[in-house]
Amino acid sequence: MTTEWKPEGNIQPLWATPIYQNIAKDEEFDIIQEELLSVISRLKFGEAKGWGPNSHSLSEKPFDSNCLYDNDCTNTLKFMHRCIMEYLRYLDATPVPYIISNAWITKTTKGKFAYSHSHGFSDISGVYYINTNGEDGNLMLENVHDAFAGNYIYNAIGRIGGRVPAPLCNGILLMWPSNIRHQTQENTTDNDRFSLSFNINFNNFLPGNLANEAWDCNVEGKDFYEKSF
Ligand SMILES: [Fe+2]
Repeated sequence: MTTEWKPEGNIQPLWATPIYQNIAKDEEFDIIQEELLSVISRLKFGEAKGWGPNSHSLSEKPFDSNCLYDNDCTNTLKFMHRCIMEYLRYLDATPVPYIISNAWITKTTKGKFAYSHSHGFSDISGVYYINTNGEDGNLMLENVHDAFAGNYIYNAIGRIGGRVPAPLCNGILLMWPSNIRHQTQENTTDNDRFSLSFNINFNNFLPGNLANEAWDCNVEGKDFYEKSF
């Protein structure tokens, strides 16, 4: 018979990395799906040059445009805004104006995947799943403490060098600090997986005119995305 071990001291896991997760439900899910599937039907997709063989495809000008602003995706933007505010509230961070600096659609067909990378030029990066069968390649978030792998205690945590699969389901929205490295597993199924990817910058890091526009907004009442239409 084994008895449960109860330590005499206690351990505080400090400085955890906050990963946000929510899922659009019911009528809101339906209307977001309709909105984003309509966007997908109008976009062209291609592989980025120099990203290596078997990389997933992206909508045109992925990092110089915002497919949500360009296509008036108000329902998707409202859901995202609610999630962003909740993310900040959980962290007890002051809700300052933000801009979705770019948003694009990722298309991952059979045999394709995303190499390890980060979006370190932004504050928050995220994904919303539009068309997945739940088995066509998880997002894998990499341990921010990998740089400490030589330390015996950090290594004992067990996730150094490892990757944690994020849940994969239509309607799920995930957000994480942009400097977290991540990749996606190979899609080994026949389903073409479509997801929305985006980057968010808060006003204090915005360059030039974007910063001025963001400052003009009141995050309490007029969200930046509403002004940008
Ligand atoms: Fe990414």
